[in-house]
Amino acid sequence: MAKENTQEKLDDVQQPNRRGFVRGAACTISGIAIFVPVAASVPVVLDPVGRKREPGGSSFTRLCKVSDLTTGIPEKFSILEDKTDKWSRYKDAPIGSVYVLKQSEDDPPKLTVFSTICTHLGCSVNYRGHVPDPDFYCPCHNSRFELKTGKPMNNTPPRALDVLNIDSEKLASQGEVWVEYKRFKTNSRDQEDA
Ligand code: FES
Repeated sequence: MAKENTQEKLDDVQQPNRRGFVRGAACTISGIAIFVPVAASVPVVLDPVGRKREPGGSSFTRLCKVSDLTTGIPEKFSILEDKTDKWSRYKDAPIGSVYVLKQSEDDPPKLTVFSTICTHLGCSVNYRGHVPDPDFYCPCHNSRFELKTGKPMNNTPPRALDVLNIDSEKLASQGEVWVEYKRFKTNSRDQEDA
């Protein structure tokens, strides 16, 4: 009997402790349940603020040294950019490509940077070095463009290949080619930002 009384007393003492533990655990779990979705939403809310530049925005990208180029032969370069969406970061994701044509041996040389986007409907043009008539050629609907000027060589494309801006200061002072990569609307006579 005395043993039973002792057990009852022990239960009375332990009961509030157990209730306290259960209450504490419930608070912790509900706290996590509220905090996690809120924390996850913070980058989404801040995303437009934190992004380095808006898609379609422009900045200069380093391509090469002038000494890497051969006069008269266009060199193709990919344009890479770190991209971030709501969930992932992509380092050096390709966003386009260009042809750089060194057109003279002057110092600094005359350079032209062409977008590889065909102005007809947006496929990619390829350099064809066949002599005596080298060109940029689009296999989708057979558009041809002059090598030196990018002007159309048949009636398919509505305008010349798009020429991109070069950082002339870096070209003159450092002998480096930096380009301002941009996209323009296709299937239009006029060059308009895409
Ligand atoms: S998209 Fe290039 S020829 Fe049509």
